[in-house]
Amino acid sequence: MSIQFHVRAGGSLHGELRVPGDKSISHRSIMLGALADGVTDVSGFLEGEDALATMRAFRAMGVQIEGPDQGRVRIQGVGLRGLRAPSTTLDCGNSGTTMRLLTGLLAGQGFAVTLDGDSSLRKRPMERVAKPLRAMGARIETAEQGRPPVRILPANGALQAIHYDLPVASAQVKSAVLLAGLFADGITSTTEPEPTRDHSERMLQAFGVQVTRDGATASVQGGQPLKATAIQVPGDISSAAFFLVAGSIAPGSELLLRDVGMNPTRVGVVEILKLMGANIAIENSRLAGGEPIANLRVRAAPLHGIEVPEHLVPLAIDEFPVLFVAAANAVGRTVVTGAAELRVKESDRIQVMADGLHVLGIDATPTPDGMVIEGGKPYHGGTVHSHGDHRIAMSFAVAALRASGDVLIHDCDNVATSFPDFVALAAGAGLGIVAR
Ligand code: S3P
Repeated sequence: MSIQFHVRAGGSLHGELRVPGDKSISHRSIMLGALADGVTDVSGFLEGEDALATMRAFRAMGVQIEGPDQGRVRIQGVGLRGLRAPSTTLDCGNSGTTMRLLTGLLAGQGFAVTLDGDSSLRKRPMERVAKPLRAMGARIETAEQGRPPVRILPANGALQAIHYDLPVASAQVKSAVLLAGLFADGITSTTEPEPTRDHSERMLQAFGVQVTRDGATASVQGGQPLKATAIQVPGDISSAAFFLVAGSIAPGSELLLRDVGMNPTRVGVVEILKLMGANIAIENSRLAGGEPIANLRVRAAPLHGIEVPEHLVPLAIDEFPVLFVAAANAVGRTVVTGAAELRVKESDRIQVMADGLHVLGIDATPTPDGMVIEGGKPYHGGTVHSHGDHRIAMSFAVAALRASGDVLIHDCDNVATSFPDFVALAAGAGLGIVAR
């Protein structure tokens, strides 16, 4: 039996909370800490299933890792060439980041390794990383239609640096190529069509690696050693997003979200909500471990529909499920375009969100690369399916705040991949949510 969320209609949210650590940064802290010389201490680590899958993969390759213990992790780095062949397939669980970044990181190792994952991950495209890595001399096999499992074989000789123009705005593809570049002869570079999250570039620099950044191009010279460092993981803005929307749409709400990561490549959700009329104050902006963070205060405000500027799409790519809920509560029409990538996330987030919004009586029309929502009208409760997608499950929990009846959400186990405490934090703030 899988977990269901029962969410009571209505209510408002109040108080202060700290959302869990950033998922992207947590993955990278393990990966780079493992490749470093020396001991890396991490605080604020996300103890969610995705980041734990990355941790288990490195343990299986001989890396000693202590924790996690209340967000603290200690990694005994093995150096650039110190990983050992795992004795079994590495299970990436639900995590695309684990599989894609590991494919890059392992492409230049001298051992064979297979990466596999759950039924959702097994549907996701992996040729997008395999293709540039093959151009570097890596030997990588994917299964039918370019999907997992991914088999990485020892390369014939050293990897060769390439320049890669990314066909899609993907931080995972960029990161996979740059990580492979650490093991390549020469300077490997990537150019992205739109800015995507730059946590890999920032964290490589924090580990003492020279990464040159010139506009949309990032370059790294192969063979540079990583020096262990301390990593403070900020709160995940993608998890904060559920509370930013909840606090905006539930009348009378006021919430303070502490220590939220505000990397400019991740703040699209705040910008989009502000364009819709949200009242979000950014307080106490500061730097923590090379990443900007701030406290976010959100107060309920009347939202209105907008055409979401396409340049903001990659900067808010994981937040569209909950932004669709914001749009359903925004008076007028909201149009999202340029977001076809949503169709290849943990689920087809355009279709799955449209299906659930229809169940609640919301006027939502899916398009090949986005959605049109006529918002601000009353809607009712109902039973919706997350299709095993964590962000879909949490988004419909937020939708209940303005529904006229309760919302029952099926298949919520995977909320543990990114936000294991969601139910407790949301209930503590005033959402009528129970997990069964
Ligand atoms: C991530 C990049 C994004 C994002 C994912 C995490 C990362 O994917 O959707 O949740 O940590 O690099 P793409 O790079 O495929 O867009």
